[in-house]
Amino acid sequence: MSLSASNRPLRIGIAGLGRLGMRHAENLAFRVRHCDLVAACSPVDSERDAARQQLGIPQVFDSLEAMLQGADLDAVVLVTPTSLHAEQTIAVLEAGKHVFIEKPLALNVADCERVEAVKARHPDQVAMVGFVRRFDPSYANAYASIQADAVGKPFLVRSQTADQYSPDGFFVRFAGTSGGIFMDCSVHDIDLARWMLGSPRALRAYASGTIACHPDLAQHQDVDNGLAIVEFEGGARAVLYASRTFAHGHETQTEVIGTRGQLQVGAGAARDRVVYSDQHGVRHLAVQDFFERFEQAFQLEMQAFVDSCRGTRPVPLSLSDATEATRIGLAITRSLRSGQVEPV
Ligand SMILES: NC(=O)c1ccc[n+]([C@@H]2O[C@H](COP(=O)([O-])OP(=O)(O)OC[C@H]3O[C@@H](n4cnc5c(N)ncnc54)[C@H](O)[C@@H]3O)[C@@H](O)[C@H]2O)c1
Repeated sequence: MSLSASNRPLRIGIAGLGRLGMRHAENLAFRVRHCDLVAACSPVDSERDAARQQLGIPQVFDSLEAMLQGADLDAVVLVTPTSLHAEQTIAVLEAGKHVFIEKPLALNVADCERVEAVKARHPDQVAMVGFVRRFDPSYANAYASIQADAVGKPFLVRSQTADQYSPDGFFVRFAGTSGGIFMDCSVHDIDLARWMLGSPRALRAYASGTIACHPDLAQHQDVDNGLAIVEFEGGARAVLYASRTFAHGHETQTEVIGTRGQLQVGAGAARDRVVYSDQHGVRHLAVQDFFERFEQAFQLEMQAFVDSCRGTRPVPLSLSDATEATRIGLAITRSLRSGQVEPV
């Protein structure tokens, strides 16, 4: 009997309770419908304490392996360091559970393809990668408008992810495992561009970048401001910009240009609808970080995962979307380092 037929909540375990994992866990524990967050795992004592005390999670483990053996689960949500995603996804699929994986799926294409091959042996299990922007109501409306022919044939996507400058530069510590600014940040813009353009095949990429504020990134061959152009089969193009150094806040924005019009999502980073006018001019406050910008989308994304696992809606994106995002992100990263146009 399928879960939807039994109508019981999906039993979920979460792996990783760091910066983003705690947010996903709060959504699963308190906001997402038709699921119970019954287990969590983390190698860090304080995170396991938080799982018990703040979230009331009954079963808490110090490793994914222990959680898979010790808890009765239907699905696992992985919010662990990117370098662990491929092996952990395979372990969860082999254990017979549905799996949600934070982006990116992996830092090399071979690992993505290995995960896809294992998934192919488990066709009834859901494996969904967290491209959260697809669940943001504004991006979803933009996509629906493009499907309804509002801008004609889309041929150019110009998309940026810009984080507010952080003096502690926490991402510098993660630069060795995150894959760098394009794999960490622009991977969202890459997925958006493919989605908005109808998933054309990427042919080649060129990238450049600069270190404006965080000189320690040089040891990881990374930058804090990066630019890239991606060429797709059939003539479509994407222009991407990622920054870690914006002064005013977090500003994710995207423009889709078509043969009969264009649309724009997110320009201006306004926190709300209040506009202040005084001796300094006219202004609004800005969104501070990606979580504030995509708070609603993170909740809708988890609801989509739960609904997909319970069979009440189709899985919204495929593992091959994630593999393509990694393939393009890697070509961009190679180009940043080589200074050459790189084949995708
Ligand atoms: N969708 C988005 O917009 C978005 C935003 C931020 C991060 N992310 C992704 O989420 C993932 C986690 O990022 P983060 O910023 O929360 O990192 P983080 O370092 O704050 O958290 C990582 C967590 O994984 C745990 N962990 C480490 N090894 C583990 C293991 N073997 N088993 C179980 N847990 C383990 C750590 O204890 C920690 O709780 C990354 O892949 C990142 O790319 C996505």
